[in-house]
Order: sequence, then C-alpha cells, then structure tokens
Amino acid sequence: MTTNRYWRLDSHPKGDDFAAALSLQHEELTPIEDGQIRIKADYLSMDAGTRMWMGGREDGYQPPLPLGTTMVGLALGRVTESRDGRFPVGSLARAFGQWADYSTIRPDEGWAVPLDDDIDDIRQHFGVLGLNGWTALYGVQDILRIKEGETLVVSAAAGATGSLAVQVGRILGAKVVGIAGGPDKCRYVVETLGADRCIDYKNEDVAAALGEIEGGIDAYFENVGGPILDAVLQNMALYGRIAVCGMIANYDAAEGAPGPRHYDQVLMRRLRIEGFFLPDVPERGPYFYDTLKRWYQEGKINVPFDVTVGLENTLVAYARMLTGKNTGKAIVDVRS
Ligand SMILES: NC(=O)c1ccc[n+]([C@@H]2O[C@H](COP(=O)([O-])OP(=O)(O)OC[C@H]3O[C@@H](n4cnc5c(N)ncnc54)[C@H](OP(=O)(O)O)[C@@H]3O)[C@@H](O)[C@H]2O)c1
Repeated sequence: MTTNRYWRLDSHPKGDDFAAALSLQHEELTPIEDGQIRIKADYLSMDAGTRMWMGGREDGYQPPLPLGTTMVGLALGRVTESRDGRFPVGSLARAFGQWADYSTIRPDEGWAVPLDDDIDDIRQHFGVLGLNGWTALYGVQDILRIKEGETLVVSAAAGATGSLAVQVGRILGAKVVGIAGGPDKCRYVVETLGADRCIDYKNEDVAAALGEIEGGIDAYFENVGGPILDAVLQNMALYGRIAVCGMIANYDAAEGAPGPRHYDQVLMRRLRIEGFFLPDVPERGPYFYDTLKRWYQEGKINVPFDVTVGLENTLVAYARMLTGKNTGKAIVDVRS
C-alpha cells in the first residue's frame, strides 16, 4: 500500500491564517478507476486565484471548495498509474490535482496536459511555459492588443503572472511600467525584467508617479484591484484598455469590494475594461506554449522560482505568495 499525504480544507481561512483552516492528513491509496490517472508530484504551484476557492463566496469564477475535501491546486510530476492512453506511466504531466503527494484525477476535468521533457528546467512548466505565462500572453496580446510604442502598466509586476506580463509587453514592443511592493522588487522589475520604470506602491504616491507618463496609460494589466486600480483610472489615456486578470487585494474578503472612486473615468476617457480567465480558452494552449517556449529558448523571457521545500510546508509557501514575500513564481518542492 502507498500512503498519500494531503491537505484538507477544514474551514474557511480568516485572512492569512491558513494553519487554522487546513490540516495535513494521511490516507492509503486505492486503485485508480477507469479513465483516471495518478501523478506523483515533484512540484506544486502556489496560485493566488485559488485563495477564492477556500472561502465561501458563491459568485467567484469557480464554486467554493466543499469543506472537508482536499485542497485543489496545480501539480507537476510523473504519471505513476494510468487508465488513459494519453498519459503513459512515466510521462511528465501537469494538472489541477491536489495539494498532496499524489494527485488522482480525470484528465479532462483537471485540465491535465502531457508535457515534454525537452526543457532545461521542468519547473518552467509552472513558470514561463505554465499557466502564468499563458495568462500573461493571453492578457497582453489578445485582451489588451498591445501595439509597439504603447505604454503598458502591470501591477504585481514582480510576481509570477506580472513579471511574465512585463516581459511579454517588452517583447511586443511596449514601454512597460511595473508596480510592485518594495525597492528590491522594483529593482528586479527594471534591471532584470527590463521595464522602463517601476513604482514602489508601498513607498511612493502611485497616482502621482503614473501621472508622469507622457500621453497617459494605453493599456493596464490588472492583477490587484483596490487603491492601485483607482490610481490607474485617473491616469489612463483616452480610449485606453484595461485587462482584468486578477484582484488579489480582495481575495480573502467575504463579499465584493466597493467600486473604485474614479470609476467615472471609464466614461470620461472612453475606456474598455475586460475581465479574462485563461481556462476559457483551452484551444489557445498550443499557441501560447509554442510561442513562450520559443521566446524562452531564445533567452527573451524567464522567471525565477521562490521555492519552499516539503509538502508539510505548503501553507508557508502559500502565505509567502499572498503576502508578497515571493519574487517570481512560488512553488513547493515535494520531491523528498
Ligand atoms: N485571469 C486568469 O486567468 C488568471 C490566471 C493566473 C493568475 N491570475 C491572477 O494573477 C494575479 C497574480 O497571481 P500569481 O498567482 O501570479 O501570484 P504572484 O503575482 O506570484 O503573487 C502575488 C503577488 O501579489 C502582490 N500582492 C498581494 N497582495 C497585494 C495587495 N493587496 N496589493 C497589491 N499587491 C498585492 C504581492 O506582490 P507585492 O510584493 O508587489 O505586493 C504578491 O507577490 C492574481 O490576481 C491572480 O488571480 C489570473
């Protein structure tokens, strides 16, 4: 018998107190059913959007996870058992599985994808080639339709999705301004990611700094909401576009956030605001993957990893990401 450790959601977390809401459990694995596969995770992905699944809100883009079930999250590793011919035993795969040693899933329900080993660091299947990379490309290219020479602003610019959106914007010829928390992150956004400038929202007046952008902001890649959105709205260019990727400032709230104070600027500046959600466009996956892989292999795009070791430390990794301790992609190394 094989023992599986997994994180169970026992109650809705309050703020960042995850230890009071989730517990590490053990179970003996039973044989998989027809159509299922089992992946032994090498890495787990810490994703901000999953915070909403832990709460009780019914109006999110995913229904809340029932209490008493295993926490869902992206897992990356080898297939150890398979009753689906697309995923042979021993092959590499990524899927929405569980925060666990082993994820047992039906591939189409868990958006499982077979992965190639032809990459110098398989963790990039959670990084540049992963869903954060796909989201960055989808948002900047398809939703914002960025054009060469335009000014793109990206919030949470030193995180996984944001740092990739900054680089996609640069590759597509935009002038990029990042917004991130703290001087070290801002240095990283400019010196490593190549943004033209970065605004430290913890120490600078964001609205005033954005006001210095000549001609205003053409395109905004929104990751946070809250006061940063308000600062952006006051500084958009006429006919500017906003792609709403995420609203992390409000993910732990029990209800929706109050509207932005400067919402009237949507009318005054004739803005287009569009929310988008990557799982809506699975058919775009091969294009996103091929494009990002080419850029990665050409040395144009990269992301560092904020690694926490051990499944037992998953909650530490998760809180690190939600409280901004990470630069780049937050993952848990569960190989031991
Ligand atoms: N629409 C989609 O399909 C899709 C897909 C993937 C991700 N997303 C969204 O992308 C965003 C980033 O997610 P991620 O998984 O890549 O995480 P991440 O950016 O790697 O980590 C989250 C970052 O958010 C920043 N942050 C946290 N609270 C904040 C606040 N109140 N105000 C401003 N910044 C705050 C922190 O950076 P600082 O130190 O700079 O504060 C932190 O590092 C999330 O909103 C997520 O929901 C959307």
